Amino acid sequence: MSEQNDPVASAPALEETALALCDGKGILAADESSGTIKKRFDQIGVESTEENRRSYREILFTAEGIEEFIGGVILFDETIRQQAGDGTPLAGVLARRGIIPGIKVDKGLKDLAGSKGEKITEGLDGLAERLPEYRSLGARFAKFRTVYSVGDGLPTDYCIEANAHVQSYYAALCVEHGLVPIVEPEVLMDGGHSIRQCYDATRRTLAAVFDRLALYRVPFPQILLKTNMVVSGADAAVQADEAEVARMTIDCLSEVLPDELPGVVFLSGGLSEQQATANLNAINAAGSVAPWHLSFSYGRALQASALRAWKGQPGNRGPAQEALLKRARLNGAALLGEYRPEMEEQ
Ligand code: 13P
Repeated sequence: MSEQNDPVASAPALEETALALCDGKGILAADESSGTIKKRFDQIGVESTEENRRSYREILFTAEGIEEFIGGVILFDETIRQQAGDGTPLAGVLARRGIIPGIKVDKGLKDLAGSKGEKITEGLDGLAERLPEYRSLGARFAKFRTVYSVGDGLPTDYCIEANAHVQSYYAALCVEHGLVPIVEPEVLMDGGHSIRQCYDATRRTLAAVFDRLALYRVPFPQILLKTNMVVSGADAAVQADEAEVARMTIDCLSEVLPDELPGVVFLSGGLSEQQATANLNAINAAGSVAPWHLSFSYGRALQASALRAWKGQPGNRGPAQEALLKRARLNGAALLGEYRPEMEEQ
């Protein structure tokens, strides 16, 4: 195939796409699996039907003005195959507005054999065949999430190494098929652990992932890291404040990440909308000399108030879109270190 006819070769370079997702903008994670979106809908008393999922996502993706702050949206397999009311594929609705569609390609968490309480992520089988299909449906980047619990000897080196392999081979396949891989190792907030324990678990996990990415010949300028901020466990008696979260997060990333990585996009992991924004603001204020863009790829912290405003009622489209736009705008301010809590009321 000549370069001209090869869709992978003629599309923007992966470096360019990776930068467009994190430079001055962030990502909306709307890739909740069927099980997760059901949990979110249960909280607002809405039945998780295919049509409700479709129409909720259409409301999010057509919120006017989000493209100023949102560079990409992560979709679930079902969503990338759905259409807006006017028949346009939802991925096309995003692309038309200059928002890059992405796709969750992992197949979820399974118990890690021989290590009670730890998980491994499935999804490598058949991935080489699924990626070209997703690309033809409009996806330009992908995401794959692995998780790590903290406490009582956890995470084990076994869990860290096994998941580093999975993440890195997924990333190698994405690059080969012309999609930017978002590598997402998440140290979970669940538990009473200290921020220091989160720091150590995050450092060990990221070090293993980046060693393995190098071994698997994954070019760092073509990928993004999505990871947790370094925070206290959700049940810890002592909760670190934003300044400490920012300092520990920057220190941890600086210990292990290569300078060539274009950006880190943080997940919200169960933080409230306001806390996720305040932390991101403190991180950007503290990390202005960091070599990578420090942005967001939030699910719950962008959608929680939008979901509550929507409540499954078509008539609540406007308030739901306003709620999303507000979070997007405040997180946009946080990228510049210009967020202030008073802005929540404006
Ligand atoms: P949260 O921001 O809700 O943690 O979701 C981000 C995500 O994509 C998890 O995989």
